[in-house]
Amino acid sequence: MLLSSTRGSPSGGGRRTAHVIVVGNEKGGSGKSTTAMHVAVALLRSGYSVATVDLDGRQLSLTRYVENRKRWARTARVALAMPEHFHVPPSKRDTISDAESEEFRKLTEGLGDIENRHDFVVIDTPGSDTFLNRLAHRIADTLITPMNDSFIDFDVLGRIDPVSLEIIDVSQYASGVRDARRERRQTDNAILDWVVVRNRMANITSRNEQKVAACLRNLSMKLGFRIADGISERIIFREFFPIGLTALDDFDEHVLGTKPTLSHLAARQEIRQLLASLRLPTDELGRKRADARRRYAETAGRPLVLPDIFAS
Ligand SMILES: Nc1ncnc2c1ncn2[C@@H]1O[C@H](COP(=O)(O)OP(=O)(O)OP(=O)(O)O)[C@@H](O)[C@H]1O
Ligand SMILES: [Mg+2]
Repeated sequence: MLLSSTRGSPSGGGRRTAHVIVVGNEKGGSGKSTTAMHVAVALLRSGYSVATVDLDGRQLSLTRYVENRKRWARTARVALAMPEHFHVPPSKRDTISDAESEEFRKLTEGLGDIENRHDFVVIDTPGSDTFLNRLAHRIADTLITPMNDSFIDFDVLGRIDPVSLEIIDVSQYASGVRDARRERRQTDNAILDWVVVRNRMANITSRNEQKVAACLRNLSMKLGFRIADGISERIIFREFFPIGLTALDDFDEHVLGTKPTLSHLAARQEIRQLLASLRLPTDELGRKRADARRRYAETAGRPLVLPDIFAS
């Protein structure tokens, strides 16, 4: 099963096993839940079967997002594609080890139930270092890290020298991803594809953003992640949540209470570009890439080096 045995791509031969997408960043409010919902709906609308998992048992933002979507579909009498959703509530056991075992059990049971019935599992994680969060990073095939477009949020990946903008140190989160990648490779020979997405980008490019972009490029070489096209700061992303919609859904004046604007269309385009840059095993090329990566992982005995991550 997912946490212990060999896995395949959704389209690969043999038993179907979902491709797991984890949305993670230990910094709060970076856009994880918003991104998770948009990626899930994008895949649903492309005809894939998708399960969503909320590991942020305290905030339950993704769970509420899905509930709002169901309510809106009923109220507005519209057919909306839905993911199969479950969340893992935080354990109330007295000792840490008991709590961790209970959460582990709930997650594995939940995943065991869904992973063979869906093409993709999208997991939203909390903005804190929890046991479940670490576990999620160890079962990811694709890790998406949305990052607010500012140096304040940059330190979740690495510390930079304020004058030279050189990278001084990698952060705890980035080291955690490196460990997860190594362990994952040792456990079932899979390669985790890590994609960082700049979120809430300003429409006007400032010097600060150019510096963020340059530092991010440096860090991407050091840590082995890819950088996806960014998502702009748009009020509509906040307006979608209460009605459970995303930039990819069909919306008109009746749904939005106002005429769709250029911002809606631009947001849709940005999310489509994000999906394309994830290089998920969705099209023929993506499937070939996933198979090639899996074949490579199965045969290569040498330690993981940076170009391997970009094997595709
Ligand atoms: N591109 C964007 N433009 C405008 N608002 C955004 C954008 N992305 C996210 N938001 C808003 O920012 C807030 C935080 O986003 P979200 O809940 O997705 O972050 P998160 O990383 O899941 O937070 P947490 O760590 O608390 O779980 C929400 O109100 C969301 O609507
Ligand atoms: Mg969240």
